[in-house]
Amino acid sequence: MNILSVTSEIYPLVKTGGLADVAGALPLALKSLGIRTRTLVPGYPAVMKRLAKPVERLHLPDVLGVGARLLEVTCEGLELLVLDCPALYDRVGGPYLDATGNDFPDNWKRFAALSWVGAEIAGGLLDDFQPDLVHAHDWQGALTPVYMRYGRAHAVPSVLTIHNIAFQGQFGFNIFAELRLPPHAFAMDGIEYYGDIGYLKGGLQSATAITTVSPSYAGEILQPSFGMGLEGVIAARENVLHGIVNGIDVETWDPARDPEIAAPYSAANLKPRAASREALCEHFNLDRDSGPIFSIVSRLTWQKGMDLLPEVVDDLVAHGGKLAILGSGDAALEGALLNAAARHRGRIGITIGYNEQLSHLLQAGADAILVPSRFEPCGLTQLYALRYGCIPVVARTGGLADTVIDANHAALQAKCATGVQFSPINADGLRQAIHRTIRLYADRKLWTQIQKQGMKADVSWIRSAGRYAELYSSLISRTA
Ligand code: ADP
Ligand code: GLC
Repeated sequence: MNILSVTSEIYPLVKTGGLADVAGALPLALKSLGIRTRTLVPGYPAVMKRLAKPVERLHLPDVLGVGARLLEVTCEGLELLVLDCPALYDRVGGPYLDATGNDFPDNWKRFAALSWVGAEIAGGLLDDFQPDLVHAHDWQGALTPVYMRYGRAHAVPSVLTIHNIAFQGQFGFNIFAELRLPPHAFAMDGIEYYGDIGYLKGGLQSATAITTVSPSYAGEILQPSFGMGLEGVIAARENVLHGIVNGIDVETWDPARDPEIAAPYSAANLKPRAASREALCEHFNLDRDSGPIFSIVSRLTWQKGMDLLPEVVDDLVAHGGKLAILGSGDAALEGALLNAAARHRGRIGITIGYNEQLSHLLQAGADAILVPSRFEPCGLTQLYALRYGCIPVVARTGGLADTVIDANHAALQAKCATGVQFSPINADGLRQAIHRTIRLYADRKLWTQIQKQGMKADVSWIRSAGRYAELYSSLISRTA
């Protein structure tokens, strides 16, 4: 089976969040099931500089009016098709934002072009690779099923995965002519969205099937409080909606072999965690007492509930806890957390920025990780935490609810608890959860039991890759 994946991020080449991790890990997991995935990605500078000996497959003189090349290369076990289009992607900044943190004004074109090329590949552009199915991700890939539907690839099945419905790719009608879609695509059952153009909306209307990254989130986005305006569209397509929880790359994230942590360890012997704990204290300038170290590895945004932190940190410290924060995002939140760290020297440490190595050390050295998200399609940091014996303390929502077993009385009795869940998702709920975690931590035997139970949880891609494989097969056989 041949799959074309269309994504705007892929680990380890370019990453701003969990989408990259999923786009990078799923093809490797599918490979072991006999499924070959090629992934189409934009040729950002970060991607281009990692490519060793790419092969130029095609010159594309007119990708929505711009010249481009399609390169083919294998990188870190991933078969990539790279859209090298300097006019659109050779920019200073990240995949979506310029160096000053603003959206590139032509993002509509940058990702329409990617999707257009994806649909062309589905329609037979490459003589040695005919995809049996196209798997597009988020709004940046969402026009792929739209171009397929109105073009020559209309018979090829497609899957659109929603990683985060908060980002929808909504643009003014003025771009419509440049998208080169037929006039009837601008309709309720196409890309029209309240008079504008909705990329995700169009993709949801056009894909053969829709997935999102946990069963709970699949249920949540049918409701106005989570659907962010798209709940009606999703409800109309509920019969093709699936919730498949993410896995993680258990090779990259393996405490027994992780080069980024201070000493390797496994569930059989957790003692070497102490070395990473010490390295964390050193890095974040934390006191060496035995109080629990909570961590944060996150975008600092409202979605992630990071605005609740300033309200609870005094209490966390008063109860003997410490906090190590790694993240970046809203300037006001960064300021509030820097301020909290300045007020609680030795108890709260913060690194503003994005640091992949440090994120591993935090999982290996902290006692618990806080994930107080207001909504969370899946969430990966709690899965890394489970694997590293770092207790996840999570809001009861989306994928967090689906992947962590709360240490309530029944779960503790049954010895199946893996973390702490809380609701309501507000400062009070988080404060209570922190108190509960500190009480659990005081009982060292119980704490170790929860750590080991979490480390036993299957967070690999094995089961979920199987579910994608089943979905792909059923869609391919239905359209064959
Ligand atoms: P989202 O994609 O919504 O940000 P996820 O939990 O799915 O949330 O994925 C976040 C990914 O980004 C994880 O791999 C996490 O370790 C990583 N991450 C987030 N913030 C940082 C940071 N400041 N430094 C390093 N890694 C980070
Ligand atoms: C999004 C979501 C996150 C999910 C990730 C990968 O960024 O916010 O919950 O884990 O995509 O699917």
